Amino acid sequence: MENTGITVTEHLLIHQKESPMATGRFTRLLSELIFAAKIVSREVNKAGLVDILGLTGEINVQGEEVKKLDDYANRILIYRMQQAGVLCAMASEENADIIEIPDKYPKGDYILVFDPLDGSSNIDVNVNIGTIFSIHRKTSDRSHATVQDFLRKGSEQVAAGYFLYGPSTMLIYTTGNGVNGFTLDPSVGEFLLSHPDIRIPETGQCYSVNESNYTYWDDRVKKAVEYFKTPENDRGKPYTARYIGSLVADFHRNLFRGGIFMYPADNKDPSKPRGKLRLLCEAAPLSFVIEQAGGAATDGQQRILDIEATQLHERVPLFIGSKKDVEKATAIVSGEA
Ligand code: AHG
Ligand code: MN
Ligand code: MN
Repeated sequence: MENTGITVTEHLLIHQKESPMATGRFTRLLSELIFAAKIVSREVNKAGLVDILGLTGEINVQGEEVKKLDDYANRILIYRMQQAGVLCAMASEENADIIEIPDKYPKGDYILVFDPLDGSSNIDVNVNIGTIFSIHRKTSDRSHATVQDFLRKGSEQVAAGYFLYGPSTMLIYTTGNGVNGFTLDPSVGEFLLSHPDIRIPETGQCYSVNESNYTYWDDRVKKAVEYFKTPENDRGKPYTARYIGSLVADFHRNLFRGGIFMYPADNKDPSKPRGKLRLLCEAAPLSFVIEQAGGAATDGQQRILDIEATQLHERVPLFIGSKKDVEKATAIVSGEA
């Protein structure tokens, strides 16, 4: 059993030989992400006390109202990461275009995509929220990164993970050698290894979906969701319904307990025919994590990690979690079952 209680950096050094990713530059990238997350965690934990709740009055590229903490987290991440000297560019859910690294800072060849605050609708009701990140290496020989460098398959990610701001603040991430969980010990300000080598159960006990979208789903999606609600399934009994409304929180519970999270395509909003969740900053990073933990993730037809993005803020239906549950849902949605 891995010696829990070690820091992220110690863990990276111990596993240096197994993971070509654990270079000094990657360690610097992760350390800067961690620093930014500690600041966001501090603000989240006192959000109720200072005027950081509520709306900024702006509308972001997603057409959603930008909450102050969304904006704050976005600015903190951009500010810290642009000076880290390891990125050639980054992209945020909150920014329409890619974010260049100012010339005054050294650059590297990593590409970072992030959702600065996932679950924004839950910020001012004190429910778990998180930060999701995806890391690629720039492969083009362009001197300057362009949006083309971001339009990749999720299978090309070199690392991905999320911070979860809840009763405790956690970091869960993978570099392609399994999934490890670290818990922030506020007394020392370090993320300490608390959940080494996380594996998701092959079948779960709960399903997560926003059932208010039922009338907007096609018949196959309705049939797939029904599968988890009735005893006529491989378990012989209904799955429990759990839906927090923060993807990272629903994902995290299912990662440990087993289960399936679904955000299917719906015809509720003609501008979002492929559902609400974003491929590059939500579906792809969490799909890398779930596959590394022995789970699966599809868009109802194909593996999420096989989808090559065609635009920065591309949306994608998402079925993610326990391998057998996702395979079953995908078979039904794709018409094979
Ligand atoms: P974000 O706060 O980054 O916009 O993400 C919100 C997402 C995701 O966290 C969650 O699973 C989903 O929106 C909930 O959507 P509904 O309220 O439509 O169920
Ligand atoms: Mn999100
Ligand atoms: Mn967000």
